[in-house]
Amino acid sequence: MTDSKASAMWGGRFEAGPAAVMSRINASIDFDKRLYAQDIRGSKAHCAMLVETGVVSRDDGQAILAGLDRVLQEIESGAFVFRADLEDIHMNVEARLAELIGDAAGRLHTARSRNDQVATDFRLWVRDAIDGLDGMLKALQAALLDKAEAHAGTVMPGFTHLQAAQPVTFGHHMMAYVEMFGRDRGRLVDGRARLNESPLGAAALAGTSFPIDRFMTAKALGFDRPCANSLDAVSDRDFALEFLAAAAICAVHLSRLAEELVIWTSAQFRFVRLSDSYTTGSSIMPQKRNPDAAELTRAKAGRVIGDLNALLIVMKGLPLTYSKDMQDDKEPVFEAAETLELCLAAMAGMIRDMTVEEATLRAAAGAGFTTATDLADWLVRVLGMPFRQAHHVTGRIVKLAEAQGVGIEDLALDAMQAIESGIDARVFEVLGVDASAASRTSFGGTAPDNVRAAVQAARQRHL
Ligand code: ARG
Repeated sequence: MTDSKASAMWGGRFEAGPAAVMSRINASIDFDKRLYAQDIRGSKAHCAMLVETGVVSRDDGQAILAGLDRVLQEIESGAFVFRADLEDIHMNVEARLAELIGDAAGRLHTARSRNDQVATDFRLWVRDAIDGLDGMLKALQAALLDKAEAHAGTVMPGFTHLQAAQPVTFGHHMMAYVEMFGRDRGRLVDGRARLNESPLGAAALAGTSFPIDRFMTAKALGFDRPCANSLDAVSDRDFALEFLAAAAICAVHLSRLAEELVIWTSAQFRFVRLSDSYTTGSSIMPQKRNPDAAELTRAKAGRVIGDLNALLIVMKGLPLTYSKDMQDDKEPVFEAAETLELCLAAMAGMIRDMTVEEATLRAAAGAGFTTATDLADWLVRVLGMPFRQAHHVTGRIVKLAEAQGVGIEDLALDAMQAIESGIDARVFEVLGVDASAASRTSFGGTAPDNVRAAVQAARQRHL
């Protein structure tokens, strides 16, 4: 092998080395070096098992384990030199191990292939990413819960079609996002449970003739069990797809909240104020406070959605088992995880720091005849009117208020009575925005007491 340029790792039957462009398209070390810790952890578990099952001697096993620790330490200290000609993290680690301990290094790859090795490393990486994101989602929920609690009774307009619909409470609006991010956490955790099986020992695709113990390596790596089918073990990337799907949905949730912040901070709304730490100024317009972090969070959802699409498209149509296409699974996953982490941190900061403009919210809560439904409900409840008729009567009263340029609560009683004679002064009790919000006590409704209870329940559930 020394007389040819072929790879020392697989070049036995090769005369010549790869073309430069071949190396460039083939090498993954630039991005898969991020798997170094998982790769070394997997190799140590595999080595310990080979010793335990008598496949590798104790002496060689000890040399390998010590050598792997040394490689880990070299990588973490920055002393390690990554080589593109060694393609990927697996061969970079193994080649350095050979430099450090000599021939014994060559025994590590017994009963193993890069196919089960990379599948194992990547599962471990995604599992760690899920745990990190779960913690960040929890922190964002905590920020939302604090705002919800502080503003359980702060009325604001609730919207459908972005048209003022009915008064709701700001706390209730925050709690909607607590629910959404709770489901995101649930999706990540569900995916984690399904990914937590070990591919290690599936070898190239068929399993191995060595007397290995896959349960032992699975346990050592914190997996619940080994993957049951060796072909599936090396060709499955569902775990990455599920992770990306959960990440994309979460990014969509973040983007929706970001969009609300963009709307709410505009001069036409002024519902909330973001802190200086999360806004930027304009170089020409001195009055500007731009919600850049929110805008970028909104934008970056596009990347995460793209990452999911990218891997779905890589995987579709791949025959079993491993194909090199699957090397392209990593960059989308790394990008999605990184992007989501950044957006979650920015969003938690924005929410934590934001000032809620109660007076503006209250004034806006009644604009657009938002208590019209309360009037219709009153006609049903007090006058016994069928809802359809009540809807019609209320429509006429709204039209009158609109013509006079006032809110329905500002209309004179006799003006309302001219439309429906049964109306009496008690109607004014339901036309205010606070009364409207407070009356929505049905389970999951916006009443301040409900919001306080929901905050307590959520704190018990999530935190
Ligand atoms: N770098 C490769 C990847 O990430 C490792 C597996 C290579 N396997 C192979 N049969 N060439 O997919």
